[in-house]
Amino acid sequence: MAERSEEDTVSFDVMGGIAWVSFNRPEKRNCMSPKLNRQMLRVLEQLEFREDVKVLVLAGEGDAWTAGMDLQEYFRETEEQGLWAIRKSQRESYGWFERLRWYEKPTIAMINGWCFGGGYGPLFGCDIAIASEDATFGLSEINWGILPGGGASKVVQELMPFRKAMYHAMMGENLTGKQAEEQGLVTEAVPASQLKARVTEIAEALKKKDGNALRATKWAVRRMVDMTYDNALDYQIRAQEALHSFGGAAARKEATRQFLDEKSFKPGLGTFDASKIKD
Ligand code: ACO
Repeated sequence: MAERSEEDTVSFDVMGGIAWVSFNRPEKRNCMSPKLNRQMLRVLEQLEFREDVKVLVLAGEGDAWTAGMDLQEYFRETEEQGLWAIRKSQRESYGWFERLRWYEKPTIAMINGWCFGGGYGPLFGCDIAIASEDATFGLSEINWGILPGGGASKVVQELMPFRKAMYHAMMGENLTGKQAEEQGLVTEAVPASQLKARVTEIAEALKKKDGNALRATKWAVRRMVDMTYDNALDYQIRAQEALHSFGGAAARKEATRQFLDEKSFKPGLGTFDASKIKD
């Protein structure tokens, strides 16, 4: 097929508050070229502050999520152009991985197939990761003589138990979606036939929660990774107070009223009705 335009390397559709974004180079197993990296950042920026986007799902067209960095266009071709081209490409890819890690809206990775190397950056960037049981995860870097860079070895060190992470990084053996779940790399693995339904179910549940509280929660969980207990406690106090300045106080008051006075919901069993919040 003719080479894809930059714009066509990422597809997206917004339906019922969910932005379905996909790596869109199935003929290249969705590997990440500089064009795709630039386009992905554009798409994420475009969707982040849209009122009609409550949750973002990152999926892959065809039978891959992403086969990692593009060995031809990301590595070989940029390396031929020298150091500044390499640095530029790194900025473009790490830039959107970072944007995803600190995204304003909740994000779900829907891993339908191959997920290799550089793909661990966006995998970690998404707040929740649901994989098909027959998806394939691998740090293949060691198989072609490099170390898992671009954040990948940090991702396994953060998410997996030490012994599992070390083995995974050193051996270049693949994991199924089910094994990835058991080792902490993804939240959950489900049969391929149920993947989209399960992701939709989670997205629908997230949509019902208070968006500001969700944003504060996901940022707190990420920020606290390298904080002491006392610093984390203080951060949480400040974050809750900041939340109060942007509608959080009214939301909390209404939720408390629905539980204590109206007795119309139980926080332990579901989400309050946010449509009744009074400004
Ligand atoms: N970089 C560049 N091209 C790629 C990549 C990649 N990461 N992955 C797949 N492609 C291309 C292939 O070269 C092939 O192109 P062609 O049709 O022009 O020959 C096309 O995508 C289809 O790939 P196949 O290998 O034919 O597909 P298959 O389904 O048999 O295998 C698999 C899929 C296992 C994912 C295989 O393509 C593969 O091993 N890819 C590389 C995975 C990898 O190691 N990624 C790099 C990780 S390291 C890092 O990201 C820093």
